[in-house]
Amino acid sequence: MKGIILAGGSATRLYPLSKAISKQIMPVYDKPMIYYPLSTLMLAGIREVLIISTPRDLPMFEELLGDGSRLGMRFSYKVQMVPNGLAQAFVLGREFLAGEPGCLILGDNMFYGQHFASMLREAAQSVLDGGACIFGYEVADPRAYGVVEFDKDGKVLSLEEKPEHPKSNYAVPGLYFYDRTVCDKAADLKPSARGEYEITDLNKLYLAEGTLKVKLFSRGFAWLDTGNCDSLLDAGNFIATIQNRQGFYVSCIEEIAWRNGWITTEQLAELGKGIKTAYGRYLERLATKGR
Ligand code: DAU
Repeated sequence: MKGIILAGGSATRLYPLSKAISKQIMPVYDKPMIYYPLSTLMLAGIREVLIISTPRDLPMFEELLGDGSRLGMRFSYKVQMVPNGLAQAFVLGREFLAGEPGCLILGDNMFYGQHFASMLREAAQSVLDGGACIFGYEVADPRAYGVVEFDKDGKVLSLEEKPEHPKSNYAVPGLYFYDRTVCDKAADLKPSARGEYEITDLNKLYLAEGTLKVKLFSRGFAWLDTGNCDSLLDAGNFIATIQNRQGFYVSCIEEIAWRNGWITTEQLAELGKGIKTAYGRYLERLATKGR
């Protein structure tokens, strides 16, 4: 399984903050936003990642993340010339996926909660023999999202993108697992009324095929929004609260690489030494304590 992070778009809802800089590189408390979706892929066990962004912003992600070798990973980069839809990730990512199953995460989606890693690994496993796996998350107002409707037995009845009159309160977060047919399916999509290649239309193809699975995040699980200044501040405060209370960092990519066994304790200590902040000292402390 390979991973794709879609980190383009123009984030006009964050202007003037995002006028000259990518939203997905902005700080969420103590880390650039993209660390959070990257860590989700890592928790799913994914080591090969394609980062897609605008011609202006892609070089900044390359400077930030490099080739991934310091994390025992491999990063590739691809420009999206025009932000014409999330499903385009699988048109731009065809060469990268090279016929393998793929997981897409949006560069501004943040998740935090118990049993997340096991849920991710189950989702990844569940599409190896075909199909797609997406998630449902109950929200008070789902009108800004993809919305999934179930019958009383939990069977998926419908999927709609940003419906005016949602048929349920289950929003679909920006995290999707697909089998090896995903690039062919994405290539056949037509633009929607708003001119975008919709991820919801891609998911509908799996639904029509009878191979769409939807896993529900439970009450208490955090799926955080970073779409406007208030939600960005709230997300930062949320991360600060958890980290300062427990002393464990959230979405620390070096720690996850180490816990996954992709880098050694010596490499972790080296990485820590190179960062002259509390973040670096945290890595050094982990290395001293050991797994
Ligand atoms: O966050 C989850 C929601 O994401 C889903 O529930 C919806 O079904 C899905 O369509 C999407 O809705 P958004 O309204 O959040 O999509 P948006 O156009 O804002 O794009 C999400 C992120 O992806 C954003 O950070 C910009 C980036 N993006 C977007 C497009 C359309 C790209 O990098 N390239 C693109 O072509």
